[in-house]
Amino acid sequence: MVPNEANYHESKVPQYTLPDPLITTSGNPVSDPSAWTQERRAGILQLFKTHVYGEMPGPLSDTHCSILEEGEALAGRAHRRQIRIHFNTNGPYMDLLLYLPTDATAAVPTFLGLNFFGNHAIQPDPEIHLSTQWMRAEPKNGIVDHRATNASRGVLASRWPVEKILARGYGLATAYYGDLDPDYDDGYQNGIHPLFYREGQHRPDPDQWGAIGAWAWGLSRAMDYLDTDPKTGPVAVLGLSRLGKTALWAGACDERFAAVISNESGCGGAALSRRCYGETLAHINESFPHWFCDNFRRFSAAEDQLPLDQHMLLALCAPRPLYIASAVEDRWCDPHGEFLAALAATPVYHLLGTDGLPTEQMPEVDRPVMGQIGYHIRSGDHDLTEYDWEQYLTFADIHLPRP
Ligand code: GCU
Repeated sequence: MVPNEANYHESKVPQYTLPDPLITTSGNPVSDPSAWTQERRAGILQLFKTHVYGEMPGPLSDTHCSILEEGEALAGRAHRRQIRIHFNTNGPYMDLLLYLPTDATAAVPTFLGLNFFGNHAIQPDPEIHLSTQWMRAEPKNGIVDHRATNASRGVLASRWPVEKILARGYGLATAYYGDLDPDYDDGYQNGIHPLFYREGQHRPDPDQWGAIGAWAWGLSRAMDYLDTDPKTGPVAVLGLSRLGKTALWAGACDERFAAVISNESGCGGAALSRRCYGETLAHINESFPHWFCDNFRRFSAAEDQLPLDQHMLLALCAPRPLYIASAVEDRWCDPHGEFLAALAATPVYHLLGTDGLPTEQMPEVDRPVMGQIGYHIRSGDHDLTEYDWEQYLTFADIHLPRP
C-alpha cells in the first residue's frame, strides 16, 4: 500500500475519540492511585507490547562489563569512562561512554541517551573508541561504506553539549544504537534479536520486539550498569526522533528511569496517531517495517482501531517527570499532536498527585512550560539543539534530587 501524502492542515485532522487511560478495557473507572499502579498501568503496558513495540525480554544471565578505558577529559573538567557491556560470553556488545564532572562531591544525576553515529561522533575527543558496527549510510557524517572513520569524530557534537551538561553538574552517558540492532530491515538477523530466538525461530513473533524494542532494551542494560556506579545518581533517559520513541518506550518499561525526555519523537513516539497529521502509521510502517512489532502494521490507515493512543505511552511515565519537546518547522512530527498527547496524559499525573502539564493551551514558540510534565515548541527544525538541552537541564534542576 502506498501511503497518502502527509496532511499538514488542522482542518483535515479527522474527528477522533481517544481511549481514556482512566477507564479499564472492561469499562470501569480508575479512580484511585492503587487501581492505576496495581492494575491499569500493567494493562496499558501490555497493550503497547502486544500491538506496538512488542514483548521485550529481560537481561541475559551472562551479561558482564569490562572497562575499556578511563581517564581525564575536557582539560581536567571531566572524568571519562568507556565501558563495554558484553551481552553474553562471545556475542554482541554495547560500548557505553560516560562523562562525569570531576568536581562533583556526590553522585550526580545523569542523562542517558542513544546516539546515531557512534560514541566518537558526540565529541572530538580522540580517546573515544571508534564505533566499529554497521552505520547508517550518511557520507556527510564521515561514514564510508557503512563504517565509521576518523572523519566522523565529533560530527554530532552540536547535539551533545558535554561541557555545558558537566558544568551544570550532570553526568552524560551514551551508546551507539547500532550496537544493539542495525537500523535497516535485515529480518532481525544482525542485532541482539537472535540471542533470544527459541530453537527453530528465525524472526520475532508478531507480538515480539522490533528495533525500537531492542534499542530500549539496550538503554535498560546501560541502566543496569549505571545502577552499580556510586558516582551516578538518578538517570533521565532521552532521545531524538526514532531514539525519542525509544526513550519513551524504555521509560515506560523500566521504572528505574527517574525522568523521561522525548525530543521530537513524533509518530510512534509522543504524537497522537489518530490525528493523522504529518507522518502516519501507514508511512512509518511502510518506510521502517523493522521498528515496531509486526502486529502494528494492522493499524496502518486504521488508527481508530487501536485500543490505545500515544498519550497512554506518556501516561506510563507517570508520576515521573516527563518532558516533551517539539520544533515548529518539524511538522512531520506533529508538534500539536505531541502537545495534545501530553495534555491527555495529564489526568493520570493528577490521579497520582502531581500537576502534569501546567497549561491547557499550546504554549507560544520558545516559551517552555514546566510542571511534572514539561513541554516546549522551539523555533527551527528537527534536531537536538543547545536550546533543547538548556530546557532539559533546567527541568532536571527542578526535578532530579541530589543527595
Ligand atoms: C524519519 C521517520 C520518523 C523518525 C525520523 C528520525 O523522519 O519518518 O518517524 O522519527 O526519521 O528518527 O530521524
